[in-house]
Amino acid sequence: MSSPWIAGLRSVALNVPDLAAAEKFYTETWQLEVVHRKDNAIYLRGSGSDHHLLALYAGGAVPQIRQVTLRARSAEALQAVAEAVPRAGGTIISPIGPLTKNPAGGTGLTLRDPHGRVFQVVHGDTRVDDRGVQKDRPIRLTHVVLNSHAVDETQKFLSEALGFRLADRTGIMAFMNCDTDHHTIAIGISDNDALNHIAFLMPDYESVMRGGGRMKDAGYPIQWGPGRHGPGNNLFNYFIDPFGIVIEYTAEVEQVDENYQARGPEDWKWPPGRVDQWGISPPPGPVLKEAQKRIFFAPTH
Ligand SMILES: [Fe+2]
Repeated sequence: MSSPWIAGLRSVALNVPDLAAAEKFYTETWQLEVVHRKDNAIYLRGSGSDHHLLALYAGGAVPQIRQVTLRARSAEALQAVAEAVPRAGGTIISPIGPLTKNPAGGTGLTLRDPHGRVFQVVHGDTRVDDRGVQKDRPIRLTHVVLNSHAVDETQKFLSEALGFRLADRTGIMAFMNCDTDHHTIAIGISDNDALNHIAFLMPDYESVMRGGGRMKDAGYPIQWGPGRHGPGNNLFNYFIDPFGIVIEYTAEVEQVDENYQARGPEDWKWPPGRVDQWGISPPPGPVLKEAQKRIFFAPTH
């Protein structure tokens, strides 16, 4: 069921109000590592081979999402995306060309969907040494959840412009697949088009749990979790970062292939009182739900 064009999620770029505070939090507590630094930006890697998972830029008082970067399967796939985007109703902001300003380099294009979400698609970007599994350190991103006020339109755009397929749909989310991770982009059914959250893949169950303790010690309590989701079958702990951005430690994401059968909202109903498989953690509270609706895409021109 995978995308013919997109191999996966590489990174997310954000504007944050305090770059020094962001570096301290995302290295010391969240356990990423600075891989590149500019005057107005830092790039943070995990233990896997992606050059960076987060690009953080010095921004104004209100944090913003700049773009979601996806990796194309080939130069031909990148070209196919360039041709599919206008057909799907999107806009090419930067045509295919060398990404000289990005430390990961490669060739890429930037596009905007009809609601203002910005995606960069890259091919041939620099990889860093794969350190494999390291205790308590995120390996890579596994999904980003983007809200949509018009979920059917967003689902259609991701399908037509980027080749994503629907993996599952619940009453609150459409889970979109591009490779073997059950979902790489999920669309949060909402009344706005904000960033819902960014999920970092941890090596194992223990790293997700110890991450909950480490965050709690640093003053960032678990907002939802620990638990195990329905669609994707992944473990989760959700947090709010120092700037209000919702981030997730996850592990054991279900791996799927072309035989996976998408199911719908009627198939994914929880018994009363449950919002995950375990039923230990209370449901997400108003603080988390509010944070999942506050970070908007920076306007592009
Ligand atoms: Fe998630």
